[in-house]
Amino acid sequence: MRNTEDDVPQPETSSLENLLHETRSFPPTPEFAAQANAQPGLYAEASAGRLAFWAQQATELLTWKTPFTETLDWSGAPVARWFGDGILNAAYNAVDRHVEAGHGDRVAIHFEGEGGDTRTVTYADLQREVSRAANALAALGVEKGDRVVIYLPMLVESVVAMLACARIGAPHSVVFGGFSADALRSRIADAEAKLVITADGGFRRGAASPLKPAVDEALEEREGEPATTVQHVLVVRRTGGDVAWTEHRDVWWHEALESADVRHEPVWVDAEHPLFILYTSGTTGKPKGILHTTGGYLTQAAYTHRNVFDLKPESDVYWCTADIGWITGHSYVTYAPLINGATQVVYEGTPDSPHRGRWWEIVEKYGVTILYTAPTAIRTCMKWGEDIPAQFDLSSLRVLGSVGEPINPEAWMWYRRVIGGDKAPIVDTWWQTETGAIMISPLPGVTATKPGSAQVALPGIVADVVDDEAHSVPNGGGGYLVLSEPWPSMLRGIWGDLERFKDTYWSRFEGLYFAGDGAKKDEDGDIWLLGRVDDVMNVSGHRLSTTEIESALVSHEIVAEAAVVGAADDTTGQAVVAFVILRGEHADKAATPEGSDEVQLTLRNHVAKEIGPIAKPRRILVVPELPKTRSGKIMRRLLRDVAENRTVGDATTLADSSVMDLISAGLATPG
Ligand code: WTA
Repeated sequence: MRNTEDDVPQPETSSLENLLHETRSFPPTPEFAAQANAQPGLYAEASAGRLAFWAQQATELLTWKTPFTETLDWSGAPVARWFGDGILNAAYNAVDRHVEAGHGDRVAIHFEGEGGDTRTVTYADLQREVSRAANALAALGVEKGDRVVIYLPMLVESVVAMLACARIGAPHSVVFGGFSADALRSRIADAEAKLVITADGGFRRGAASPLKPAVDEALEEREGEPATTVQHVLVVRRTGGDVAWTEHRDVWWHEALESADVRHEPVWVDAEHPLFILYTSGTTGKPKGILHTTGGYLTQAAYTHRNVFDLKPESDVYWCTADIGWITGHSYVTYAPLINGATQVVYEGTPDSPHRGRWWEIVEKYGVTILYTAPTAIRTCMKWGEDIPAQFDLSSLRVLGSVGEPINPEAWMWYRRVIGGDKAPIVDTWWQTETGAIMISPLPGVTATKPGSAQVALPGIVADVVDDEAHSVPNGGGGYLVLSEPWPSMLRGIWGDLERFKDTYWSRFEGLYFAGDGAKKDEDGDIWLLGRVDDVMNVSGHRLSTTEIESALVSHEIVAEAAVVGAADDTTGQAVVAFVILRGEHADKAATPEGSDEVQLTLRNHVAKEIGPIAKPRRILVVPELPKTRSGKIMRRLLRDVAENRTVGDATTLADSSVMDLISAGLATPG
């Protein structure tokens, strides 16, 4: 694989070679294959008529108020219209229709609080709660089309809040509870939200951690900035801790719901009505508001959930460990499982609270049959040792999913053997916030799975690996992952910025969606994902932008310049490593051990404040210079070599080739 840009990070060649030597393969057992929802014929069915196939999925998996007659309108490419003249409601599909079909008593959510408090919510309960919340939102003046920001921990109310917005046609924008007040503020401003739903706090590692103060701070008036568009803040009471209260603006969730009617007529919307905006990191400093609409998104979310996880709603207990603040929580906690009428577990806390067997205890307690989690979590559990899961009965598990980053074969094998009892198929699912739903994954009853590979585009999806000139690479070749045909759950744009949408995804290769990932085809034509080839990092499965962290760093008065790279890390996949040039006397101060510690602390806290604790650099290296090309672009590739303790690669395109020596020399000196 060759790059025209000097400073584009390259996937690790060593890990690539390891992957190419991976030859193990695990076909499904005959018993699993025989009962699977997705049979081998699904591929042929989809390729015989892709649009007819999707139309059939949309018809079978969703209930439409007015059925669509048109499947895809691509005349406004790259903005697609799927099922454009159909009318439906997402919350009705997720909740009401199951009650109407006689499944009101089925458990929708087994909620497990971190401290062990539990709550069982049936579909009938959910219908009442969502209807009440929808009425409460309407009473607070939220109308179809208004944006609502949701900033909550993992609670039943979080799912209810999202569905209540969907029920009244108000697009939600969930902001991960780990993001800072500043990050929340900029997302509220960009979405011009009318209302914020939050909580007093949540429980994290045994302690109540407040959330509402961040909302208060995010809504504060600031000189030189326009007044906030937010009129009300709905506050869920979770920890019972003290909260500051702004009269006329703040409203308790429980009070608003108590007085609300349990009946609510869903607001029927067009298939292309915006369902949500979700902000994600891109290659520039400003997060992108990824826009998803209703009909196509729900169709593909439901289709993938049914076929990739082999969901049997009557008998399965499904658990996706993702937070609703990420796309995985949107598609595979809130929407797909409920659309499909599943019973699922929602867990508030962390895997090690109060002990490191917590997840496996939950699997045993609820008899979880399908588990969907991230490689970083698996690697962490590996580190803790297999004697911990061995203390629990995990025999109920029959399908295991992985998402968020490439899974290394070693973690894959451990997941299969220790968690899956050497029998449960693993589905390594590749997709993105932008794709809305799973795109590349084995089918558990069909595909002979390979440790570390997402393998094949799902029936109905067309993916390829291309070279610099957009030519499909032959088997055995590597290049860039692209999607060559529109798909139902594709993003419909970046909120308020159509040009950026075209530029970011559609300009690199004519007519192709460029995902930003490097990939490789093996001799069977199976796809192996190799990580990002742009300035996006993947830390514990969370997307972080190098540029965004760099701008956070330079916004601190002691920093003159900053460069951030993602360095390989055994547990988190990548770790944030920052190189900073300090201003004037601060540089001298940082040369002493105490001064250096202080700089580290100050800047790490500053990044946590600007973005959130997840973006904190693991290491901050104070340097005298940064390596730049003649056009002034930072060559992160060389800094990654330093951060990963490798010999520094080809530096001939640097404007000043002695810079790398300066940097290495400075770092070699103690302190
Ligand atoms: C990476 C998460 C390899 C990839 C759903 C992608 C993966 C980015 C996989 C999207 C996988 C996700 N194998 N890499 N199975 N799944 N990725 O938007 O780099 O948070 O571009 O969506 O995660 O991250 P996002």
